Amino acid sequence: MSEDTHRPLRFAMIATGGIAETALAPAVKNAAGAEFWSVLSRDAGRARDFAERHGAGSPRPAHTDLDALLADPELDAVIIASADALHAEQCIAAAGAGKHVFCEKPMATTTADAERMTAACRDAGVRLGIAYHMRWHRGHRDLAAAAQAGRFGTLRHMRAQWTMRAPDASNWRARSEVGRWWGLAAVGTHCLDQVRWYMMPSCGEVTRLTPVITRNVFHGPHDETALLALEFESGATAEICTSVLFDAPRRMEVYGSDGYALFDDTLGRYGAGRIVTHEGEHAFEPVDPYTGEVEDFAASVREDRDPEVNGEEGARNVALLEEAVA
Ligand SMILES: NC(=O)c1ccc[n+]([C@@H]2O[C@H](COP(=O)([O-])OP(=O)(O)OC[C@H]3O[C@@H](n4cnc5c(N)ncnc54)[C@H](OP(=O)(O)O)[C@@H]3O)[C@@H](O)[C@H]2O)c1
Repeated sequence: MSEDTHRPLRFAMIATGGIAETALAPAVKNAAGAEFWSVLSRDAGRARDFAERHGAGSPRPAHTDLDALLADPELDAVIIASADALHAEQCIAAAGAGKHVFCEKPMATTTADAERMTAACRDAGVRLGIAYHMRWHRGHRDLAAAAQAGRFGTLRHMRAQWTMRAPDASNWRARSEVGRWWGLAAVGTHCLDQVRWYMMPSCGEVTRLTPVITRNVFHGPHDETALLALEFESGATAEICTSVLFDAPRRMEVYGSDGYALFDDTLGRYGAGRIVTHEGEHAFEPVDPYTGEVEDFAASVREDRDPEVNGEEGARNVALLEEAVA
C-alpha cells in the first residue's frame, strides 16, 4: 500500500456481476475514504465497460488476469464479488500480494477455505472484512444497540425470514461448480448474521443447530427451503426461514423478557422498511447500507482495527451453513 495515508483506499472489483454493478461500485463511489481503481472479469470487454461506466481511477483499470491486477503497486484492496466458491483462492492471492480484502458473503463454501483465508490475511498483515451489509441498516443498528443496552430485557428469541421465488434452477447457486447453498447462501447467511449480531453479546455462542432442508421442487443438490432452529449458550433460541420457492414480505422479530421489535421489509438492499417495538414505531433514516460497509472497511484499514465483520466471524457463519446441510 502507498505511503500516502491521506488519499482514499483504492479498491479493485473482482467480478462484474449483479451485486458489483448495482450495489458495490456505487457504494465505493459514494463512500468516504474509498476510490474505485480497477476491475477483474473473465471477459475483457466486460472489464473495460465496467471500468468506464464506474469511473475507475487507474490508468490501466481493466484486467482478465488476477495476478496482473494484483501486481499494481498503486492498488490497496480488493472487493471480492464473484461466485461463492471462487472467493477463497482470490482472497489468498490478494493477501499474498499485500492487498486488503473485503469479501462478499458467504466468504467461502467450506470452513476449511474460510480458515485458510483468515490465516492468509493474518499472515500477510492485511485486513479481511466480510460484506454483511444489513449491519449498516440504520434501524437495525439502532435496535442492536438498544438490545445490547437491555431495552428488551433478557433476549429470549429471534426470528428472521427472507425468501424469493427463483423462476428456474439456472442460477449458479443451484449447482455445485461454484456454489454450495442456494437460498442459504443468497439470503440465509444474512439472516444468520443478524441473529448472531443481535443475540451473541448477551446470549453467547450458538450451541445447537437443527435444520430442515427441502429440495423437492427442482430436485437439485442445494437447499430450496431451509429452516434453521438455533439455541444459544444462555438458552435463548432463534428461527431462520429462507426459500427460493416463494416471494413474501421479509420479516425479522426480536423478543426479550421486557419487550420486542418487529421489522417489516427491512431485510434487503435499500436500508428501508418499517420497525415497530413494544414502545411504538421506531423511526429511522433510510441510508444505503453498502456505502456504510465500504466506509467501515476503509476506516478499519486507516485506523488499523478490525472491520465490523472480520474473517473469524465470517468463518463461523460458514461453519453453521455447512452444519445446516451436513
Ligand atoms: N451482500 C449482498 O447484498 C449480496 C447480494 C447479492 C450477491 N452477493 C454475493 O456477491 C457474490 C456475487 O453474487 P451476484 O449476485 O453478483 O452473482 P452474479 O451476478 O452471478 O455475478 C457473479 C460474477 O462472478 C464472476 N464469475 C466468475 N466465474 C464464474 C462462474 N463460473 N459462474 C458464475 N460467475 C462467475 C462473473 O463475473 P465476470 O463475468 O465479470 O468474471 C459473474 O458476473 C456472491 O458471493 C453473492 O453471495 C451479496
